[in-house]
Amino acid sequence: MAPVRRVLLSAIVRGTTTTTIASSSYRARTTTTTSSSSIGSGSSSSSAHASGLLDASKLVITRTTAPKRLHPPEDLVFGKTFTDHLLSVEWTASGGWRAPRIVPYQNLSLDPATCVFQYGFACFEGMKAYRAADGSTRLFRPDKNMARLNKSAVRIALPAFDGAQLIELIKELVRLDGRFIPTARGYSLYIRPTLIGTQPSLGIGPPGSALLYTIASPVGPYYPTGFKAVSLEATNYAVRAWPGGVGDKKLGANYAPCIVPQMMAAQKGYHQNLWLFGEEERVTEVGAMNFFAVLKDHKTGQKELITPPLDGTILEGVTRDSVLILARERLVPEGWKVSERYCTMRELAAAADEGRLVEAFGAGTAAIVSPIRMIAWNERTVDCGLKAGEEAGETATRLKGWIEAIQYADEVHEWSVRV
Ligand SMILES: Cc1ncc(COP(=O)(O)O)c(C=O)c1O
Repeated sequence: MAPVRRVLLSAIVRGTTTTTIASSSYRARTTTTTSSSSIGSGSSSSSAHASGLLDASKLVITRTTAPKRLHPPEDLVFGKTFTDHLLSVEWTASGGWRAPRIVPYQNLSLDPATCVFQYGFACFEGMKAYRAADGSTRLFRPDKNMARLNKSAVRIALPAFDGAQLIELIKELVRLDGRFIPTARGYSLYIRPTLIGTQPSLGIGPPGSALLYTIASPVGPYYPTGFKAVSLEATNYAVRAWPGGVGDKKLGANYAPCIVPQMMAAQKGYHQNLWLFGEEERVTEVGAMNFFAVLKDHKTGQKELITPPLDGTILEGVTRDSVLILARERLVPEGWKVSERYCTMRELAAAADEGRLVEAFGAGTAAIVSPIRMIAWNERTVDCGLKAGEEAGETATRLKGWIEAIQYADEVHEWSVRV
C-alpha cells in the first residue's frame, strides 16, 4: 500500500478524522427497518463511491463506545465470540462499491425477502491473524483467500472486488481489534470475510445489491492438549461435489448439506466423514478439509505424498497448496514423490493391507493438519498407519511445524504478511 494511504488510514484509526456515525445513535437506528445507517439496508450514509471500485482509502471508522470484555484464552470456543468491530462495504449494480466502513459489531438489518435467505447468494472465506513472537501481527497468504472469494463470488453472480484493497481493510480491522488476539502459541484471530446478495426481491436473477462484510473471532489451538487422530466414516450414500458443480467454491450452500452425513458418522462414533466420488470411490475431502495420504511404493519403497487433483470437485485449500509447495521444496530432495492424483478407497485399503499406507491426514486453516487413525469403509476398517497410542505421524507433524513456523513468523517467509 502507498505510504500516503497508510498514513491516512492510521489517522482514521486514531480517531483524528471525523467519523460519520456516533455509535450510540447507530445502535438505536438498527432497531428500525427504515434506518439509513443499518448494515445491509442498502442505504449506508457513506455514499462516496467515485469510481465504484473497492477503495480502502475511503474507509470510515466508527469506534465502539462499549469495548467487550476479553475472555480468558482457555475459555475460547471456536466462532462463538467476536471482536468489537466489523468491516462492511455495500455494493450496488448502479454505483459499484461504496465507501468501506468499520463499525461496532452489530446485527444486520435485512428485508425477509432478501435473496441471500431465499436463494443462497452467499460465499465466504476463513483465514487467520497470528501474533508473532516479536509482537507483530501476521496474516498467512491472504491473497489466496481473496482470489478464492472472488472466484466464489463470480460463480454466484455477486460482484468481484480488488483483493489487495480488501486485505488493507482487513488489516485495519485487525489493528483496531488486535487486543483480542491472545499472545500464546497456537492462538489466533479467525477472520471471516463474507459476501452476500442483499436484493430484497423474490425474483430469481443476479442480485442488484450486495454486502461484503468481515467479522473476527479469537480462537484457541485446534489441539489444546496435542494432536488427536480422528476416525472417519467413508460416506457412500451422498456426494459433496460433482464435476461441473460448485464444490471448488466456498459457497454457504455447500456446507449445510454436509451436516447430516457428518451427524450420521458421529452417531456411529466417528469424528468426521470422508467424502468419496464415483463408482470407483475416489477419496475427495475429509469433512471440510483437503485429504492427504503417504503411501510407500511396493517395489522401491519410495514415499509418495498424495492429494486429489483440483478437478472442480475439491476446494482449493490454502493449506493444501502450502503443503504441496513445502513438500516439493523439502521432501522431494529427501527422495519423496509428491503427486496430485486420484486415490481410491480400494487403493488405500490395499496399501493398508500391505503395510504401505504410512499416514493419512486432513489439511485446512483450522487445524493445519488433522491426522487420521482409521477409515470405516463399507464393512471394513482401513488402518491409516499410526501406531497404538500415536496421535500423529511424522509427515503431518513436520508439515504442521513448517507451516506454523511461517504463520507465527519464526521463519522469515513471503507467505507471512505483516499487518
Ligand atoms: C470443503 C473444504 N475443503 C478444504 C478446506 C481447507 O481450506 P483452507 O486450507 O483454505 O482452510 C476447507 C476450509 O476452508 C473447506 O471448507
